[in-house]
Amino acid sequence: MLDLDSAKKILAQYGQEHLLRYYDELTEAEQKDLLSQIDLIDFSVLDNLKAENRFTAQRGEFAPLGAVTIADIAANKDEYRKIGTEAIKAGKVGAVLLAGGQGTRLGFDKPKGMYNIGITRDLYIFECLINNLMKVVKEVGAWVPLYIMTSEKNNNDTVSFFKEKNFFGYDPSYVRFFIQDMAPSVDFNGKVYMESKSRISISPNGNGGWFSSLARAGLLDDVKSRGVEWLNIFAVDNVLQQIADPLFVGAVLKSGLQSGSKVVAKADPEERVGVLCLEDGKPSIVEYYEMTEEMRTLVDANGELSYKYGVILNYLFNTAKLESMLNDKLPVHIVDKKIPYMDENGNDVKPESPNGHKFELLVLDMIHMQDSCLSYEVVRNREFAPIKNPTGVDSVESARALLEENGVKL
Ligand code: UTP
Repeated sequence: MLDLDSAKKILAQYGQEHLLRYYDELTEAEQKDLLSQIDLIDFSVLDNLKAENRFTAQRGEFAPLGAVTIADIAANKDEYRKIGTEAIKAGKVGAVLLAGGQGTRLGFDKPKGMYNIGITRDLYIFECLINNLMKVVKEVGAWVPLYIMTSEKNNNDTVSFFKEKNFFGYDPSYVRFFIQDMAPSVDFNGKVYMESKSRISISPNGNGGWFSSLARAGLLDDVKSRGVEWLNIFAVDNVLQQIADPLFVGAVLKSGLQSGSKVVAKADPEERVGVLCLEDGKPSIVEYYEMTEEMRTLVDANGELSYKYGVILNYLFNTAKLESMLNDKLPVHIVDKKIPYMDENGNDVKPESPNGHKFELLVLDMIHMQDSCLSYEVVRNREFAPIKNPTGVDSVESARALLEENGVKL
C-alpha cells in the first residue's frame, strides 16, 4: 500500500499535488482510499498532453478499399454459412461485448444495456443483443463464449442485472465479465479533477483497451482453453447487431485475411461515419472529418462512391494476431468531454459544455495494426440500429422503428 510520502512524490512528478489538498480533513478510511486510488492510477497517461507527445493523427496515403458486397454474399452464402457454422460449432469463435462506455449522450444513469426500449413489454438493450446471439446458438447448435467488458463504474450494476434476468436465457458458464482500465480526467490545464475530497475523477479509457484489459483480467486462459481463435467484438448500442454471424465468419475465414469488419454503404457522401479504406496499403478507418471534399465525393467507374463503406463497430479479430500486438501501444486520443467535478469551494459542478479532457484508446486503431481486413457489406436496415441519443438520429426512437421493421415486438 502506497504511503503518503510516496504518493506526494508521484503527484509532484506530474504536477498533481492538489489531489491531496483535503487529505488532512479526511477520515482514516478515506485517506487510505485516496492513497490506493493514487497507487492504481497510471499518471503517465498525462504525458500525452505534452506537445511533443501529442498524438497528431499524422495520416498516410489513403486509397479506397472494396467490399464483399451484399450481392457477392448472396451468391456465396451456402459456402460461407458452412465454413462459419463449422468454426462456431468447433468453439473457435467468441464474442466480446463492449459495454464499458458511459453513454453520456443517452443520459441514462444505469449501464446503457439496462435501458428498456420496450413499449408494451420489457425489452432491454442487453436482452436484444442476447436474443440476436441466441439465434446463432440455436442455428449452429453450440454456445458462443461471450466476454462482456464493463468499467469500474458500471460493473456491479451490469453483473447484477444479468444475474437478476437469468442471463436472458444464455448459459452463464459461457459468459465472462471483465473490467476495463480507467484513466484520470483533467481540466484544460492538465490538472486532474476531483469528484469529492477523497475521490479522483477517473473514467473508462476508451474501447480500444479491450484486449489488454481482457488479458490483464486473466481471461486469455479462458479464451485459449476453450480453443477460441476468433473474437467478434461489438458495441452495446446497436440493437440489430448480428453477433457471431456464421456468414460473416465464413467469409473472413474463406478470404484468408487477418481480420474482418462489417460495413454499410454510406447513405450519402456527407454521412458522418468512419470509412474503412487503405492507408499506406494497410486497412484503416478514416473519420468523416479527416476526409477531404475530394475523397468524400470521389466516384469509381460505376459511379459508386469510392470511399463508400462505413464501419458499424462489428469486427472479427484473430486471437493469435491480437496476442502478438499486446505490447504494441495504441495511440492515446485526447477528447474533450463534460466532466462532473468538485470545485475549489467543495461544490459539485455538472458542466453544460466540455470542460476538460479524457484519454481514450480507440478500437478503430486496432484495424490499422492488421495486415489485412475483409470489408463485409451488410444491409443497413437489418443490422444497424445504434442507440446514442434519446431522440433524433441514432436514437431510441429510430432504433424502435428499425426493430419493428425487423419484426421485433416492442
Ligand atoms: P461510444 O463511442 O458510443 O461511447 O462507444 P460511450 O462512452 O458509450 O457514449 P457517449 O459518447 O458518452 O454517449 C461505442 C462502444 O464502445 C463502448 C461503449 O460501451 C459502446 O459499446 N465503450 C466506449 C467501452 O466499452 N469503453 C469505453 O471506455 C468507451
